Amino acid sequence: MNEETRNKNGIGNEQKKSPGEKPAERKKIILSGIQPTGIFTLGNYIGAIRNWGVMQEEYHCAYFIADLHSLTVRQEPAALRKQSLEAFALLLACGIDPDKSLVFIQSHVHNHAELSWILSCNSSFGALSRMTQFKDKAARHADNVNAGLFTYPALMAADILLYQPDYVPVGEDQRQHLEFTRDIVEHFNGIYGNVFRMPEAYIPKAGARVMSLQDPAKKMSKSDPNPNAYISILDEPNVIINKFRRAVTDSETEVCFREGKDGINNLMTIYSVITGRSLDQIERDFAGKGYGDFKAEVGSAVAEKLRPIREDFARFMQDKEWLAQQYRRGAEKAAEISARTLAKVKKKVGLLMP
Ligand code: TRP
Repeated sequence: MNEETRNKNGIGNEQKKSPGEKPAERKKIILSGIQPTGIFTLGNYIGAIRNWGVMQEEYHCAYFIADLHSLTVRQEPAALRKQSLEAFALLLACGIDPDKSLVFIQSHVHNHAELSWILSCNSSFGALSRMTQFKDKAARHADNVNAGLFTYPALMAADILLYQPDYVPVGEDQRQHLEFTRDIVEHFNGIYGNVFRMPEAYIPKAGARVMSLQDPAKKMSKSDPNPNAYISILDEPNVIINKFRRAVTDSETEVCFREGKDGINNLMTIYSVITGRSLDQIERDFAGKGYGDFKAEVGSAVAEKLRPIREDFARFMQDKEWLAQQYRRGAEKAAEISARTLAKVKKKVGLLMP
């Protein structure tokens, strides 16, 4: 296989063709990353990571811990190291299977940082200045408005483009960065030819945004000062059940999905995703029962769903050697795949090959 076709096939190149056989349709490639900024919440799980697991069956998937991105905000070194390992173990505990997907830690694959430089040189200052996340973070961390915070989207573009993905599942807050990546592709391919595949945002079929249990108008967030507002996916069952019992609802009594019932809508959405039951079915199941019963049911369903994740996580964290084997294997494979794109880019922009 020559370099050109290899690059087109992207991750793994599993596509096999024997002479005379009709070419099989290329399996599409998915890539996404998550920052190691703490134990994931039920919101991260339902909105993203649960789907990452499901998508492994249908696509070639690459998932990574975006530790380089976390450096744009000052970190306590020991804490960052710990969180990166935990985040990696959590991905595996949530069902990301290193035998099916490429799973790795961003900083272990130096091609990311390297392509990021080349893409920075192809990123417009004006476009970077318009990124709302940059403006927000610069305002929130006024004492540390560093260049990395500014060029963050170029690193994210490198993460993506190295693996030539078709789809990138991202939350609303990262949409603008994906658009930025797409602009780079257009600009770069326009100058140098067909180097990068144009990535698209991936919108999950059953999209679900999980809201705070204490203020259902706000997104569930692990940085919420009130721990009752979010469920950590490692919370113990009794903690989960208690948090749901205290969830803010409204002064009515009927379990139904309706405008103005943000709290109940949120609980119904969570329950629906966790149990696979439709909203209609849930309304019927809880007709005539009060909020108390419903909250208790949601709490125990979530606790049961998260139990094996918590147990697997604890098991994985006890075997650091095994975890290290997994992330080393992921990094090795990721380096090999991303090196193809990087080599092509370097040649195109005129760097002398060593
Ligand atoms: N910036 C993303 C976030 O903070 C994480 C991320 C880094 C990412 N690189 C990526 C997501 C590439 C998707 C694709 O959530």
